[in-house]
Amino acid sequence: MKINNETIIKDDDPMLRERSLDVKLPLSAQDKSLLQDLYDYVDRSTDPEIAEKEDLQAAVGISAIQVGIKKKMCAIILKDKDGKIVHGYALANPKIIKESVEEAYLESGEGCLSVPEAHEGYVYRHRRITVRGYDLLREQEVKIEAKDYLAIVFQHELDHFKGILYYDHINKEQPFMKKDGAHCIE
Ligand code: CO
Repeated sequence: MKINNETIIKDDDPMLRERSLDVKLPLSAQDKSLLQDLYDYVDRSTDPEIAEKEDLQAAVGISAIQVGIKKKMCAIILKDKDGKIVHGYALANPKIIKESVEEAYLESGEGCLSVPEAHEGYVYRHRRITVRGYDLLREQEVKIEAKDYLAIVFQHELDHFKGILYYDHINKEQPFMKKDGAHCIE
């Protein structure tokens, strides 16, 4: 599947609010191919040359529902400043199995490929989580302990499975309300 700004559905599409379903394991060839395409999108979107040439919006994660497929699959890639992949996952049925009481938020707020308009404000999430799921890259079940930025990206993507968007979490009256004890990520 070709994934670009035209095939990514936006928040004016009610489909984005639907719940995604578990994927059957072992993955079918079709599901594998979609998951690989999601991963490749994130990887290519953060390569400045490719992104410019193909008009890709940079992202650290994408979920299948964002291309209109209601399946619990997502890809996440965090790179260092030289463009080297530090964390890369192509997951089927990822699930949070443990979460910290302590919260964290991004100072600059969150963004989403499916949300063209900016929504300012803090999104509080668990600072540390443990995720379990099937990883296509490693071809096995994995258990991931994520903290801070990576934990936030995971929670953002897993929210998509429930039809939740990041701005649903922003306090409408006080978008920049400070919560005691929450860790700020700059
Ligand atoms: Co998103």
